[in-house]
Amino acid sequence: MNNFNYEKYNSDFDRMLNSDVEVTKARLEEVPQIKSIADKNKNLIGFILRGSLVESIEKENLVVLKYKKIIIGFINYHHRKDSQTTLYEICVDENNRNKGYGKILINYLLQEAKSQKKKTLLLNCPIDGIAHSFYLRCGFKIKSTRTHTKNGKKLVTWVYKLDDNNT
Ligand SMILES: CC(C)(COP(=O)(O)OP(=O)(O)OC[C@H]1O[C@@H](n2cnc3c(N)ncnc32)[C@H](O)[C@@H]1OP(=O)(O)O)[C@@H](O)C(=O)NCCC(=O)NCCS
Repeated sequence: MNNFNYEKYNSDFDRMLNSDVEVTKARLEEVPQIKSIADKNKNLIGFILRGSLVESIEKENLVVLKYKKIIIGFINYHHRKDSQTTLYEICVDENNRNKGYGKILINYLLQEAKSQKKKTLLLNCPIDGIAHSFYLRCGFKIKSTRTHTKNGKKLVTWVYKLDDNNT
């Protein structure tokens, strides 16, 4: 059973938002803080150019999670013109992992994608990545696997279907 429990996470989300946690669209002046987290995790999420963060912010495709006003995580994505939303990167600062923040960011994106009438949320991730269990716990399902042409590593394409029961 790894279905994502929307109701539970909506209430957890509300509870956390009433505390010191904020989830908001990123602003341009926050690029240095986001870039700093991204750079520390480049081995896991790949190198992200400052310019691509700026572009995502301008398109309102970058969301940050703050604890007591400090950015501790972000999620970068794209709502395609068709029914798909693509998640590019998600990252929570190492000191703040396993506290539910990653799931809050995913929940934010699921809700936004739903409100934009998207049908699927897709992402690619290395099969041996530390995020593998995380995506399972968030209710994603493996759509396919393939081998990266350049480095020979196995990549998983994960999907979350935004219909009522994610089937
Ligand atoms: C993946 C990542 C965003 C998860 O964020 P997080 O805040 O630690 O995750 P959460 O605390 O919200 O965890 C949600 C669930 O996933 C599980 N989980 C998270 N990380 C896990 C891990 N490394 N191993 C096993 N389970 C894990 C949690 O136990 C939790 O399960 P539950 O809902 O049953 O309690 C974070 O580990 C990270 O930033 N990693 C580095 C960047 C990265 O790898 N990004 C993805 C690239 S594909």
